[in-house]
Amino acid sequence: MADAPPAPLDGPWLNSTLSAEARADAAIAAMTQSEKLLLVFGYYSTNADWMGGGVKRFEPPKDGLPYSAGYVPGVPRLQIPAQWETDAAIGVATQSSPTPRLRTALPSGLATAATWNPDAAFDGGAMIGNEARLSGFNVHLAGGMNLIREPRNGRNFEYSGEDPLLAGVITGNAIKGVQSNRIISTMKHFAFNAQETNRNHIDVKIAEPAARQSDLLAFQIAYEIGNPGSVMCAYNRINGAYSCENDWLLNKVLKEDWGFKGYVMSDWGGTHSTIPAANTGLDQQSGWAFDRSPYFHAALAEAVNNGHVSRSRLDDMARRVLWAMFTNGVVDTPVKGDQSALIDFAAHAKITQAAAEQSLVLLKNDGLLPLSKTAKKIVLIGGHADFGVLSGGGSSQVYATGFQSFEEPLGKAVFYASSPLKAIAARSSAAVSYHDGKDIKAAARAARDADIVIVFGTQWTAEGLDTPDLNLPGNQDALISAVAKANRKTVVVLQTGGPVVMPWLDKVGAILEAWYPGTSGGEAIARVLTGEINPSGRLPVTFPASVAQLPRPKIDGDPKLSELDDPHPHTDYDIEGAAVGYKWFDKKNLQPLFPFGHGLSYTTFSTSSLSAQPAGKTISVSLNVKNTGKYPGRTVTQIYVSPVEDAGWEAPKRLGTFTSTELKVGESKTLSLTVDPRLISTFDPKNNRWSIKGGTYKVMTGDSATRITNTTTVTLDQQTLSVRGQ
Ligand code: BGC
Repeated sequence: MADAPPAPLDGPWLNSTLSAEARADAAIAAMTQSEKLLLVFGYYSTNADWMGGGVKRFEPPKDGLPYSAGYVPGVPRLQIPAQWETDAAIGVATQSSPTPRLRTALPSGLATAATWNPDAAFDGGAMIGNEARLSGFNVHLAGGMNLIREPRNGRNFEYSGEDPLLAGVITGNAIKGVQSNRIISTMKHFAFNAQETNRNHIDVKIAEPAARQSDLLAFQIAYEIGNPGSVMCAYNRINGAYSCENDWLLNKVLKEDWGFKGYVMSDWGGTHSTIPAANTGLDQQSGWAFDRSPYFHAALAEAVNNGHVSRSRLDDMARRVLWAMFTNGVVDTPVKGDQSALIDFAAHAKITQAAAEQSLVLLKNDGLLPLSKTAKKIVLIGGHADFGVLSGGGSSQVYATGFQSFEEPLGKAVFYASSPLKAIAARSSAAVSYHDGKDIKAAARAARDADIVIVFGTQWTAEGLDTPDLNLPGNQDALISAVAKANRKTVVVLQTGGPVVMPWLDKVGAILEAWYPGTSGGEAIARVLTGEINPSGRLPVTFPASVAQLPRPKIDGDPKLSELDDPHPHTDYDIEGAAVGYKWFDKKNLQPLFPFGHGLSYTTFSTSSLSAQPAGKTISVSLNVKNTGKYPGRTVTQIYVSPVEDAGWEAPKRLGTFTSTELKVGESKTLSLTVDPRLISTFDPKNNRWSIKGGTYKVMTGDSATRITNTTTVTLDQQTLSVRGQ
């Protein structure tokens, strides 16, 4: 690298009328090797005294933004800006800091998936991306979407559920929303990072057709919709190779088959080598000093100089970073540092509240909800419902004005100051009081005297740890049982990272799943409980009756064993293959506690006139939906498809398409929908394409994966599709 830095330049790469490809090519042609190397090596941007245990000395880069996830220098000579990186999919996070940024938090990713509403996902993404830009960030580490194979995974709240179509559509729209701010979004964690236990080393075994028909299909759909500038490779290994040095995953599937033009960045600590990683498709090492070594720094320069990594591959790596910057407006509309005074928090509160309101899932209702207007005494119990609502922990942690931390059984949890107690009291003529639920007997006594009891059950989950089981932690199951025994008019509001079991299910009158509802969550919960809003969320994930029903009743690996104790733990995803979630339950004939797609309303809807026709390589579906009850509301139409004869599918049926529709009382609408051809295909690895087996297929409407309401059939010809599904 004997090149002396040439003089400042401007050139065709700054011409915004040229294509991003042409601009990236021109910038590469003007760059020195050292400048290219700058673009492919990122730094953590937070004080981290713990890093390296004194072996490595780490100081955050001086031009990075404090307490943020990352910084990659730019090339000022060519007017290429630096990359300022922030987490994550729920809002602008702050890494550990005594003075965190205070920002708006969306409901959890899983909650947004429960809306089944791509527009809500886009609006949420656009809102958090705006806060990222006004906070000085131009790379948003959003787009989290690993399929839920493990309901105990501590990060399920960051993801979009268990179905490839739903997860892909929701996350794709969220990414599109983030990038509408002329910043880059990631899509992560690519791929099969479905558990936190031993996440840095666990080796996931999965056969290619199963992989393509499940998690990879979710990523493929999200990629097509959202066109993320960057893809973050995951921590785990896949079929032997780390995700961040996996030739099949990065070079073949992502870049060659799908045509991804952006750059692959590693997860923080997910790079394991220089030459193999660069040659198998990793374009940028992230978050130094998380890794053992600065692999893409001097070592990469040496590898390029001695030919182990070709000069054209280094060009490709840097060109991909530049392409993502040009195509997303990062160069033409540079961020201007901290402009957070310009954030319109009042408008953003409405956006997060609207998302939360659509995400709440009414799981059970014996007529207790909406809350009776004649109730004189309502008592709220537990869950810090006097103060606010729960959020999930880890690198995605957003802090908001007035937040407080409380000790929860699994760790210290951040609660947002959006009090369900205040929001319910403001809407009710009853005397509304709060009991903290710590003393179960006293809580039951308080419940006995009330007309209605609302118990708040919480399950804090976080990055880095899986939950030990599916029960609400601590003594909450006992609390809910005791309260419900004292007063059958008990409503349970759950704030959980994902599915939980409910040993008290039959004893309570109503259950509302509120996920982690974000910074306006208390208002959203109160509006749904009181009937100001009709609940319309649907489960994006199956709630199992017990862990015994899961493909892996015990999570593989051992959280107590470090890499030194067990350097190569394994897990076998071929057990379920592509039969993830409801598909597994269908295939094994298991009865879940609550099925995928389930969610009640205060009104009733009917579907009729279902018909289906072959349309080229797809199926077009038409049906009528009607609000037959007494409240206006939103219905979610779920269309499932199923081959009548065996077509080699992983499970009896798949979600083929969906939409959601607002209907006034008595109103009906005719809907036309199309099934993505990949959802009626199987992947053929030999020919690297999808194929549809000729024959008869059932097309069904369902209130959930287990409650089918109408069925029709369609006969399809044998067809093949390209690897891109066309
Ligand atoms: C997480 C990523 C995150 C990164 C940067 C990692 O621990 O897995 O999702 O973007 O840290 O904070």
